[in-house]
Amino acid sequence: MPFQQARRAERMNPSIIREILKVTERPGVISLAGGLPSPETFPVEAMRAAAERVLRDSPREALQYAASEGYGPLREWVAGELTAQGLRVDAAQVLITTGSQQGLDLVGKILIDAGSRVAVESPTYLGALQAFNPYEPEFVSIACDDDGPLPQALDAAKGARFLYALPNFQNPSGRCMSAPRRDALMAKAQAIGLPVVEDNPYGDLWFDAPPPAPLASRWHEGTVYLGSFSKVLAPGLRLGYVVAPKPLYPKLLQAKQAADLHSPSFNQRLVHEVIRNGFLREHVPTIRERYKMQRDAMRVALEKHMPPGCRWNVPVGGMFFWIELPEQVDAMALLPQAVERGMAFVPGAAFYADRPLRNTLRLSFVTVPAPSIGEGIAALAQTLKEHQR
Ligand SMILES: Cc1ncc(COP(=O)(O)O)c(C=O)c1O
Repeated sequence: MPFQQARRAERMNPSIIREILKVTERPGVISLAGGLPSPETFPVEAMRAAAERVLRDSPREALQYAASEGYGPLREWVAGELTAQGLRVDAAQVLITTGSQQGLDLVGKILIDAGSRVAVESPTYLGALQAFNPYEPEFVSIACDDDGPLPQALDAAKGARFLYALPNFQNPSGRCMSAPRRDALMAKAQAIGLPVVEDNPYGDLWFDAPPPAPLASRWHEGTVYLGSFSKVLAPGLRLGYVVAPKPLYPKLLQAKQAADLHSPSFNQRLVHEVIRNGFLREHVPTIRERYKMQRDAMRVALEKHMPPGCRWNVPVGGMFFWIELPEQVDAMALLPQAVERGMAFVPGAAFYADRPLRNTLRLSFVTVPAPSIGEGIAALAQTLKEHQR
């Protein structure tokens, strides 16, 4: 072909999850692989009514080009919500993005040079590795325990451009950082001058108690915070936001302008119209209730079916169980056999920047209803027993 690809294109890989999803979309396969929110939670009626109001009251504005920063009232709403959670946020620091996934790309664009070091949790969100990778960073994996990254392990990341952290119900591990760990991690980050990119799409999906205050509340000037409407409203709207310290904001905005000028005006007005009068205070608890029930269905099924030598923690929010299989089992090799038996998962190796633990896998408990979760786990356990024979 006459085109020569850029170095950054060489570094792009197909998302293993999207590849797996293609296989598992076969009828009859119970997929616990993708992290798709339950479509039952989408507020279709509220959206329909709000769409009518937007098209009646401000049709031309909703269909016109608009400001790159985002729709003013929506930025105000975000600032208000985050202030209630303990952040000091001015609406002028809020940039509305096309999903928080775009926020990750923009952050990578303005903060990473070829060869820059970027610290990530181990494991971490695959989509962030994909977003950062074209900017040619060297990833530094930070050692973690069940409470998140170990503060003393940050010494290995001195001089890195930032630490990418997921404190709430992490994708993929499901873990939630305790308040003392947040304190210690941020104290250490600040002491060594390591800024933090905090990604929080799952914080509202808690089951028993809300998670501790965001990392950003412990070091405002040193943290970029990302949020999303995908898990509390609908991912197809593609709306998220970045809150940046004021000195960083203009560069993010310029990166956003170059990427897509602005996020869809209609979607922003629609979301604002739906949520402006406290809708989420009624709606989000219904999602929590559903997901908690499905979490319990998966916990019960795991306890009932899984053979000895497997380990998992019960997540207290979010969407995922993270399973450690016996050491000699490679989850990637297990996957085709599991699909044959009618279920799918994501092999854990995909979520590591380096030194993958191959005996791990991620299961989502939100996409399929409880009875199918039970069937899916039984099939997984059967596959594993057979594989070990
Ligand atoms: C940790 C994390 N960050 C960001 C995203 C992207 O979300 P969205 O672009 O839909 O806001 C996801 C999606 O699953 C995620 O799990």
